[in-house]
Amino acid sequence: MSYLSILVFYVILRLLYFFIKVTNLAAKDDIILGIESSCDDTSAAILKNGEILSNIVAGQKVHEEFGGVVPELASRAHQQNIVPVVDTAIKKAGISKEDLSGIAFTRGPGLLGSLLVGVSFAKSLGLALDIPLIEVDHMKAHILAHFIKRDGYTAPKFPFICLTVSGGHTQIVLIRDYYDMEILGQTKDDAAGEAFDKAAKLMNLPYPGGPLIDKYAKSGDPKKYEFPISNVPNYDFSFSGLKTALLYFLQDEIKKDADFVQNNLADICASYQHTIIKTLFKKLIKACKAHQITEVAIAGGVSANSLLRSELERIGNEMGWQTYIPPFEFCTDNGAMIAIAGYYKYISGSFTDQSVVPLARLKF
Ligand code: KG4
Ligand code: ZN
Repeated sequence: MSYLSILVFYVILRLLYFFIKVTNLAAKDDIILGIESSCDDTSAAILKNGEILSNIVAGQKVHEEFGGVVPELASRAHQQNIVPVVDTAIKKAGISKEDLSGIAFTRGPGLLGSLLVGVSFAKSLGLALDIPLIEVDHMKAHILAHFIKRDGYTAPKFPFICLTVSGGHTQIVLIRDYYDMEILGQTKDDAAGEAFDKAAKLMNLPYPGGPLIDKYAKSGDPKKYEFPISNVPNYDFSFSGLKTALLYFLQDEIKKDADFVQNNLADICASYQHTIIKTLFKKLIKACKAHQITEVAIAGGVSANSLLRSELERIGNEMGWQTYIPPFEFCTDNGAMIAIAGYYKYISGSFTDQSVVPLARLKF
């Protein structure tokens, strides 16, 4: 064989190798593990090309009796939960850890000790598997949960406005693209979820009180008691005054009837919830009108609230909005929202290295 034919043979082999590699890469699925550990839920999820394969959440009952999340107890529970939660998510998805393309994790905002558990775990697993790490902002992930591919879903069209209401934040956000977001307004003090939870504590209900107030409110009269609606400029909120108003109201009534809360629980819950939801819509409507937006979404733990959900539909119909309400499993903290937020960064090649540290007050 002449040198020339050997060279031609070699070039053909190289071209074949290159072709196989490129087509393999193109056909390769993007499988993202999402890890959430910012507060009191340890969660892991697997998404394949944005489509959900599994979403495992381990809550922490340990905080119930304290009326709020105890940070030290939360980080200890995350440490116990993280390995079994990730393992279950991988098994339920029907994949092996070697199939993962990247690991997305919540960098912040949240409780530092809790974040540390998820971030350290993601870094170790990323190192062991030699795959990219993707840092995710928890609040942006709540919004991007609308894009998790699942049966019969419709994602909001850009630009849209999202009211993100959780235990730590209350924000009105204008979303122009997956990672082009602007906060138009936010709470100056307590978050909407905090307003629910603190009210529940005043009524001796366990943490988290939001779902319980929602439940009791269903059989109550929302007009029975009147609570103040805060008057903050622009699209901002304040909920600390409402909580204080409830405290003084209960103190006065309990002086007259020691069993006032037990005897009027449904009406108190309905009236208080009604005030929070009315406050939220006052600003949401104002923001949508000013920005001429008709695509409107809600997100975060409080978006599981039944009145908020039904009011969004009712008001949305009146205003001519196209509205987007997340399924319950994607309202409260979950790994799937971290995985979808990570997926959009993954496909744009936006990765994090091993020097990354959690940030309790991550800037939006
Ligand atoms: O988003 P999330 O799971 O955690 C944070 O990022 O904070 O939100 C938790 C909050 C808690 O304050 C909880 O009481 C509230 O969401 N929440 C509700 C409901 N379900 C959860 N608030 C009102 N009604 C509900 N149905
Ligand atoms: Zn959250």
